[in-house]
Amino acid sequence: MRNLVAAVEAIDPLVVTGKVAGVSGLLIESRGGLSRLAVGARAEIERRGQAPLPAEVVGFREAKALLMPFGPVEGVAPGADIKIISAAASVRPTTAWLGRIIDSFGEPIDGAGPLTPGLVPYPLRAPPPPAHSRGRVGDRLDLGVRAMDVFTTTSRGQRLGIFAGSGVGKSVLLSMLARQATCDVVVVGLIGERGREVREFIEETLGEEGLKRAVVVVATSDEPALKRRQAAYMTMAVAEFFRDQGMEVLCLMDSVTRFAMAQREIGLAAGEPPTTKGYTPTVFTELPKLLERAGPGPIRPDGTEAGPITALFTVLVDGGDHDEPIADAVRGILDGHIVMDRKIAERGRFPAIDVLKSVSRTMPGNQSPPERELNRRARQCLSAYSNMEELIRIGAYRTGADPIVDRAIALNPALEGFLTQDKDDVTRLNDSFDRLETILNQGMVDQ
Ligand SMILES: Nc1ncnc2c1ncn2[C@@H]1O[C@H](COP(=O)(O)OP(=O)(O)O)[C@@H](O)[C@H]1O
Ligand SMILES: [Mg+2]
Repeated sequence: MRNLVAAVEAIDPLVVTGKVAGVSGLLIESRGGLSRLAVGARAEIERRGQAPLPAEVVGFREAKALLMPFGPVEGVAPGADIKIISAAASVRPTTAWLGRIIDSFGEPIDGAGPLTPGLVPYPLRAPPPPAHSRGRVGDRLDLGVRAMDVFTTTSRGQRLGIFAGSGVGKSVLLSMLARQATCDVVVVGLIGERGREVREFIEETLGEEGLKRAVVVVATSDEPALKRRQAAYMTMAVAEFFRDQGMEVLCLMDSVTRFAMAQREIGLAAGEPPTTKGYTPTVFTELPKLLERAGPGPIRPDGTEAGPITALFTVLVDGGDHDEPIADAVRGILDGHIVMDRKIAERGRFPAIDVLKSVSRTMPGNQSPPERELNRRARQCLSAYSNMEELIRIGAYRTGADPIVDRAIALNPALEGFLTQDKDDVTRLNDSFDRLETILNQGMVDQ
């Protein structure tokens, strides 16, 4: 009954209509009803003999509104009625959504039956909490992945980027975090991946156990740009819902590059000028708006703080170009980055994280002094080895030339072993530091 009341209240009593004035490419122009319209408004376009086509207002030109459809424009005729549905899209999740897979409209796509909507609507395009009313990044989160827990120790409410090319192991790493991190809920957004990859990720990589405490939002690469972009907004809205239930939320988005590409497609269609690499200006205004929604929770009027959303966003850096515009923009917004390297993957070390290039901006504050010292010693070894690697490999380095390098060579197999972690292998954060200490001290005794 309460659901029914909420549903009735959600109905907008005013029906505003417009008419299709023209269709060009992906855009539908509408006249009429303009006084009630704004960018982001939802509409439905009537089609003869077909279900109405959902669309969103993406801009205005002269006296016409520009709409983009959520599906193919086939069947849209001039003069067809356009019904304005709502000023902004929202979703009403419940905790019963856990374990489910939804599309960018919040509809289940896992064949496990309908989803009952909750009472409170969460706007898909909610603004990030204002900076001054946000809590601070909290205690650290135990991710269960040794390379990250030790070398990029992550705090609750932190936002990190994972920079990697395709096939380097992003999906497997995300699934490890989804299953192992000490949180209550994981919201996963799979944006612009191929359908086969999505199925593989959910069925094999994430698995039943990982899915149990997760909600997965999916928009595959073959879906219209508007749906791909909306999947990212949906992911954040669902995460915000769970945060407001007082749950510890981990948000994983794969990939934010595909979100940027969807925004580029929408922008170009609406007539925005292309700038760097064809990306339009709105790409760079939408990125922070999306990424900033994760992070420390807002401070409520009663002074209590809503829980944080810790988030990891993957960024594609194909061809190893870490300075391409999206990577650059994302790096500037987030509180750290994890770099995955194809060369490391090729020699069989997974997760293929280049710890020397990876940075967590909440460190060293979230480490104890002994942990910091361990970190320093480990990095020194890894960096000494990496600097001399070529020489060592061709046998040009002579033992005894540099005691630091000697030690780095002696410890290298153990450190590589420490950084290698099978996807089903969990190590808790404190155990990781203990293990690293044993390795580093072992080396001391040997000398
Ligand atoms: N932790 C791991 N242990 C063993 N193999 C891994 C691991 N992570 C990735 N791989 C290998 O790398 C391949 C690509 O990983 P995937 O996560 O799908 O890459 P991406 O999502 O970056 O395209 C996997 O099919 C697997 O063979
Ligand atoms: Mg992948």
